[in-house]
Order: sequence, then structure tokens, then C-alpha cells
Amino acid sequence: MRDRPARILLLAGLGLTLAGAGGGCTRTERALQQFLERHWRAPIAPQGPPPVGFGPLESSLQPDRCGICHPAQLADWKESIHAASMGPGVAGQLEELHRTDPAQARTCYVCHAPLAEQRPGTPGYDPTLTGKGIVCGSCHVRKWQRFGPPWRDGTLRSSTPRARLPHNGVTRTPAFLRSEFCKDCHQFPASGYALNGKLLQNTYEEWKAGPAATSNVACQACHMPDRRHQWRGIHDPDMVRGALTVSVNRDDTGVTLTVTNTGAGHQLPTYVTPRVVVSGELLDAEGHVVAGSRRESVIGRAVTLDLERELFDTRLPPGGSAVFRYAHERTPAPAGTLRLRVVVEPDHFYTDFFETLLQSGGGSGLRGIREALEASRRSSFTVFEHSVSLD
Ligand code: HEC
Ligand code: HEC
Ligand code: HEC
Ligand code: HEC
Ligand code: HEC
Repeated sequence: MRDRPARILLLAGLGLTLAGAGGGCTRTERALQQFLERHWRAPIAPQGPPPVGFGPLESSLQPDRCGICHPAQLADWKESIHAASMGPGVAGQLEELHRTDPAQARTCYVCHAPLAEQRPGTPGYDPTLTGKGIVCGSCHVRKWQRFGPPWRDGTLRSSTPRARLPHNGVTRTPAFLRSEFCKDCHQFPASGYALNGKLLQNTYEEWKAGPAATSNVACQACHMPDRRHQWRGIHDPDMVRGALTVSVNRDDTGVTLTVTNTGAGHQLPTYVTPRVVVSGELLDAEGHVVAGSRRESVIGRAVTLDLERELFDTRLPPGGSAVFRYAHERTPAPAGTLRLRVVVEPDHFYTDFFETLLQSGGGSGLRGIREALEASRRSSFTVFEHSVSLD
């Protein structure tokens, strides 16, 4: 039991050797890949001293400082999961790790709080920045230089001389529009931790192999529409509803519910932590569930808590369907109503994981872990409910 936490932590570390950029052969493509390699080379170097002439606002990495001039991005980011990437669950595990395996603990920062200034023990370390997770500067600032996407019309230049703009303007590059921009944190390298021959985290490759990549629909198109900084995903009911197409068919021997991934550009869900539960249960005339009538099936990739084994993988690739059949076990069919539901549990794995961690003692990160457990329980929601009268 006690070595379980260490195990799950280990896997993330194994994902660390960043994959070299592959693909394209044209000169611009090569330049883009080189930019991305430089931009995401881990660990990110300290910013160093701010350039001469930078005021206090421009020489702060605090998101709320950027937000004085960029309020729309700040408002979105604040509510996003990227801003919560050092939440109680991660922080609790880190506290534990800092005591037991400090080298391993450092690897977590690469994706969860990537700036040097967020890592204890590095020059310019600012503890108030660490808890803020994937801050604006993680993606936009290197050596105090701002990087960003092209103007919306695709052009790169500014009419005002850069030296006259706040933070000396922006270096614009189409790299910000590419799925590869997200890859280092959302894809383990080929040599990373795998179960049953499949990497534990494989989102970029799933995307690359699917129809979204073929039609040039990048991660940003779905997760940053209109350049919004929300990154909505499996925790967002509307996002999931928009991605699942559900149909119900009744025949003489039962009811069939078909769930199709028509909106996610990768496996639905992509990671091992969420699951989607499809269920049917009979209700009597008073609306009470008939004991023993519930049947369910799970869409997800289930792994053991120690991450040693994959139990099953029923995720839906883009365009893929799951068929759930509720057969009448008696003829004629029982009277009453059949209630069908599709429920999303975005943090299912962690509910079990945190429960086990608490049972095994939990250590000094105990309070954070208890909070994370409560949050993981609260996060489930229903995306589809339909009742079929069997009378
Ligand atoms: C004092 C105001 C101010 C502060 C503080 C500030 N910015 Fe800016 N930022 C600007 C202005 C003005 C522009 C437009 C520059 C141009 O015209 O090219 C800009 C442009 C940008 C762009 C490109 C935007 C686009 O429209 O494509 C990015 C990205 C950016 N800033 C990031 C940041 C980040 C990250 C921080 C905090 C670390 C920050 N800025 C702090 C004023 C500010
Ligand atoms: C510096 C690393 C990093 C980068 C770069 C990054 N992400 Fe993330 N992302 C994370 C981490 C870590 C989490 C999980 C945070 C948590 O749950 O604690 C996450 C979570 C998410 C989620 C999860 C939403 C959910 O419901 O669970 C989405 C969607 C997402 N990222 C999309 C993107 C996209 C699109 C890009 C590229 C534009 C991107 N990310 C770039 C590290 C990163
Ligand atoms: C290669 C990047 C990467 C590294 C390194 C990494 N993580 Fe994560 N982590 C992620 C992403 C991405 C997610 C969200 C998974 C998804 O939705 O695809 C995540 C999710 C999590 C979550 C669940 C979300 C939450 O907020 O509770 C925890 C806990 C976590 N990571 C802990 C750690 C710990 C501890 C380490 C270090 C041992 C670590 N991670 C290292 C990328 C990383
Ligand atoms: C996970 C990486 C990431 C983080 C964190 C992040 N951004 Fe961005 N930002 C991007 C990407 C990618 C784009 C381009 C999106 C596109 O064009 O589809 C972008 C675009 C922008 C733009 C240009 C918007 C426009 O309308 O042209 C501004 C300004 C900006 N970001 C500021 C910020 C600020 C301020 C923060 C923090 C509050 C922040 N960003 C956090 C990745 C990030
Ligand atoms: C065609 C739209 C689309 C594209 C393209 C897309 N996604 Fe998603 N993504 C979704 C939808 C819808 C969800 C919510 C359902 C789900 O979890 O699969 C989601 C969920 C997620 C999640 C939440 C965790 C989970 O287990 O599902 C992460 C992380 C994520 N996407 C990252 C990415 C990254 C990184 C890319 C690019 C490599 C990308 N997505 C490309 C639509 C898209």
C-alpha cells in the first residue's frame, strides 16, 4: 500500500525526457520546430534581470499584473484548470515527495508550475508564484521577452516601433497556433511510461492519428476558440455534451443506447483519470428504482491504483461508438419506465487514489489530500438522461 503513491508519482517523472520535434521538412516548418524546442526546453531558465527601462508592471510575472493590461485573458485563465494545476491534490503529493524523494518532486514542476521562478531553490524563486500553476509567463515569457501568436489576420509585424511598446512589444510566431505548442505537457515521449503497450499520456499522438489533424484542426481550435483562455475539457458539462452524440432505439427485446464521440479530437476521454458511466435502471409506478434492475457500462481506460496494470480500455476514438443494450429479461417486458443516463466522473481515478492515500496514513500533505478528495467527488455531472416507457 505504502509504495502506491510513490508509484503514481514516478510515472509522471518518466514522461520527462521531452520528445524531439519530428515531422515537417520545409524550412519554415524546421524553424517552427526549432522555436518550439527552444521555447519548451526543460527546465525553463530563470528570466534574469529585467531589461533597462522595464517598469514594475512589465517586470512582474504575476498573472494579475499582466491582467492590468490584458484583463480578458486574466479573467478566463483564472477559472481555468491551468490556473489550478498546483491545486490541493498536486500540492499535497508534492509536499509528501519533497520529504521522500526531492529529485522526483522537481520533475512535477516541469508541467504543473514550469517557470524557474516557481521552483524552490532556483534564482529569483518567488513562492507566491508557485501556487498559481501554469501562469501567463509559462507560455508567453522567456528572458523577459514576450512571445505570442500572429495578429488575427495572420501578419507578424507591428506598426509601432517595438521599443515604444510596453514590454518592448511581442515576438509573434505561428508556433502558438500549433498542436505542437501543447505537446510537451500533454504527451509522454515514446520511451515514457506505458501500460499494455500504450503510453499513459498520449493525447498529441491520438490527435495526430485522427481526423482533426488531417483537417488541420489544432488543439487551440477546440480548447481556445476565439483565442479564449479557458481550456475547457472533461470537467465542463457543455464541452462534453457537445462532443457526445447519443441515440436511443427500442425494439421488441430491449432498448439500445449508442454513444458516439463526434466532438473530441482524441480518445474520449484521453486520460486514465476520467470515466463516463452509461446506465439503465427500471423505475416502478412511484418512480422508485426497482432493486437489482441497474445495469451499467463504463467508457474509459481503467488502470490499477499502483499503475501496474491496465484493467480495460473502452475509450471512444474520434468517430467511435459504444453500444449499451438493456435487454428485457422477461417476456412480456416488465411494466414501468427505463431510465437511461450518461454520467461523467472527470476525477474518478483520483477519488479512489486519494481515498487509499488517506487510509495509508497520507503524511503531512493530509489536509490538501482530503480537500482534493472532496473536490474529486463533487466534480461528476449528468450529460444525458432519457426515460423510455415500457408499458
Ligand atoms: C503595461 C501594460 C502591459 C503589461 C503589464 C503587459 N502587457 Fe502584454 N501587451 C501590452 C500591449 C500594449 C500589447 C500590444 C503590443 C503590440 O501592439 O504589438 C501587448 C501584447 C502582448 C501579447 C501579444 C498580444 C496580441 O494581441 O497578439 C502577449 C502574448 C502579451 N502582451 C503577454 C503579456 C504577459 C504574459 C504579461 C505579463 C507577464 C504582459 N503581457 C504584461 C501591454 C502590457
Ligand atoms: C506547461 C505545461 C502545459 C502546457 C504548455 C499546456 N498544458 Fe494543458 N494542462 C497541463 C496540466 C498540468 C494540466 C492538468 C492540471 C490539473 O488538473 O491539475 C492541463 C490540463 C489541460 C486541460 C484539461 C481540462 C480538463 O477538463 O481536465 C486541457 C483541455 C488542456 N490542458 C489543454 C491544453 C492546450 C490546448 C494547450 C496548448 C495550447 C495546453 N493545454 C498547454 C499542462 C500544460
Ligand atoms: C509531462 C507533463 C507532466 C508531468 C511531468 C507531471 N504531470 Fe501531473 N498532469 C499532467 C497533465 C497534462 C494532467 C492532466 C491530465 C489530462 O487531463 O490529460 C496532469 C494531472 C495531474 C493530477 C490530477 C489533477 C489534479 O489537479 O488533481 C495530479 C494529482 C498530478 N498530475 C500530479 C503530478 C505529480 C505529483 C507529478 C510529479 C511526480 C506530475 N503530476 C508530473 C502533466 C504532467
Ligand atoms: C498554456 C499556455 C498559455 C497560457 C498559460 C496563457 N496563454 Fe495566452 N495564449 C496562448 C496561446 C496558445 C495563444 C494563441 C491562441 C490562438 O491563437 O488560438 C495565446 C494568445 C494570447 C494573447 C493574444 C490574444 C488575441 O486575442 O490575439 C494574449 C494577449 C495572451 N495570450 C495573454 C495571456 C495572459 C495575460 C495570460 C495569463 C493570464 C495567458 N495569456 C496565459 C497560450 C497561453
Ligand atoms: C475537435 C476538437 C478537439 C481537438 C482538436 C482537441 N480536443 Fe481535447 N477535448 C475535446 C473535447 C470535446 C473534450 C471533452 C471530452 C473528452 O474528455 O474527451 C476534450 C478533452 C481534453 C482533455 C481533458 C482530459 C481527458 O481525459 O479527456 C485534455 C487534457 C485535452 N482535451 C487536451 C487536448 C490536446 C492537448 C489537444 C491537441 C493535441 C486536443 N485536446 C485536441 C475536444 C478537442
